[in-house]
Amino acid sequence: MIYLDNAATTLIKPKCVIESVLNAFSYMGNSGRGVHNSTLKASETIYSCREKIAKFFNVSDVSRVIFTSNITESLNVVINGLIDSGDHVITTCMEHNSVLRPLYRLEKEKNVEISFIKIDKNGNLLYDEIEKSIKDNTRYIITTFASNVTGNVVDVKKISDIAHKHNLIYIVDAAQAAGSIPIDIESLSIDILCFTGHKGLFGPQGTGGICFKNNIQIRPFKVGGSGVKTFSKEQPNNFPTLLEAGTLNGHGIVGLSSAIDFINEIGIVNIHKKEVELMKRFYYGINNIDGIKIYGEFSKDYIDERVAIVTLNIKNVDSGEVSMVLQDKYDIATRSGAHCAPLLHESFGTKEQGAVRFSFSYFNTIEEVDVAIEAIKSINSSYE
Ligand code: ALA
Repeated sequence: MIYLDNAATTLIKPKCVIESVLNAFSYMGNSGRGVHNSTLKASETIYSCREKIAKFFNVSDVSRVIFTSNITESLNVVINGLIDSGDHVITTCMEHNSVLRPLYRLEKEKNVEISFIKIDKNGNLLYDEIEKSIKDNTRYIITTFASNVTGNVVDVKKISDIAHKHNLIYIVDAAQAAGSIPIDIESLSIDILCFTGHKGLFGPQGTGGICFKNNIQIRPFKVGGSGVKTFSKEQPNNFPTLLEAGTLNGHGIVGLSSAIDFINEIGIVNIHKKEVELMKRFYYGINNIDGIKIYGEFSKDYIDERVAIVTLNIKNVDSGEVSMVLQDKYDIATRSGAHCAPLLHESFGTKEQGAVRFSFSYFNTIEEVDVAIEAIKSINSSYE
C-alpha cells in the first residue's frame, strides 16, 4: 500500500515508538498512584515526556504541559474551560470541527458570539479582517496553525501581535503543524497551543496535549482521581493535575516520548524539508494538467513554508469515487470528502464534491509519489 493519508494519522511510525510502547506493557504502573516501583517508573517516564514536549515547543514551565487523549479533547478543555457567557471569539473559515463544534455549542448554550475570518480563493486568511472584527467583548482568537485541507500555514506571529495589542488570548490548533514545522510558543507568542500526538509527531493514537505559555485560570473540563488531595471535594488547582483527572494514557505517552526523540535526532527542519520535497514533486507533477483543480496557496515564494498536503479534484467527479479508484486500482490511501472542515469547503464551493487529499510523511518515498502522479493522470484521462 502507498499510504498518503498522513494528515489523518501517520501510519508508519518510527521503530523506536513501536518498541517503547510494547516494552511499556511489561513495566508500567499507574503514574502518581502509590510508591511502588511500577508507579514510580510510570511517573518518571511521563514526567520525562512532559519535559521533552516543553523543550520541543519551548514551554518555560514543564507543569504547563498537559496530556490529553487527542487534540479534540485539548480544544474542548480549553474552549469550555475559558470562554464565558457573552464573550466574543474570533476564529476562521479554515477551522476543523474540533474548534467549530465546541464554539457552536457555546454560541447556543451560553450566548457566546463568534466571528469568522474569511479566506481568499487560495485559502489564505484575510488578515486585515481580524482587527476590524474586534469588539468590546472580544476575549479570544482561535486559529489553526496549518489547514488540514489545503496545507496552508497561517501567519501565527501576525495574529499573536494583533491579539496581544488588544489584550486577547490567542489559542492555536496545531494538529497539522506539530512535528511537521518547528513551533516555539515563546517567540511566536502563542498563549495556548493544542497538539495531537498521532500525526506529524509520529506518536500513538490516544495521545495529545495542551501547552500554556503563562499561568492562566481555567475551569477543568473533567474532574476526578488525581492521586493527591483525596479528601478535597474539588479538583486540585495546580497544573498539570487540574486538567488531568483520571489515569493518563501512559503506554501512549511512552510512545510519544520516543517519537519526540526520533524527531530530535533527525531534526524537525530536515523532516519538514523532506516532506515538502515530496509534496512539491507531486504538485509539480500534476499542477498543469487540464481537468485537475488544486486547492491552496502554492506560489513559489510560499511553497516551502507549507505542510505537505495537496488537495485536488478531478473535473466534476465525486471525491469519494476518485479516492476509491485510487484505493482499489492503485492501492493508494487518500482522504476524500469534507475533512471535518465545513467552512473551508463551503468557501471553495466543494460542499457537494468534497476533495481528494494527498498528505505526505517523512516515511514516504519519491517512487511512491511518482506512482501517485501517474495514477492521477490516468484517472483524469479516464473521465470526459
Ligand atoms: N483531522 C484529521 C484529518 O484531517 C482526522 O483527516
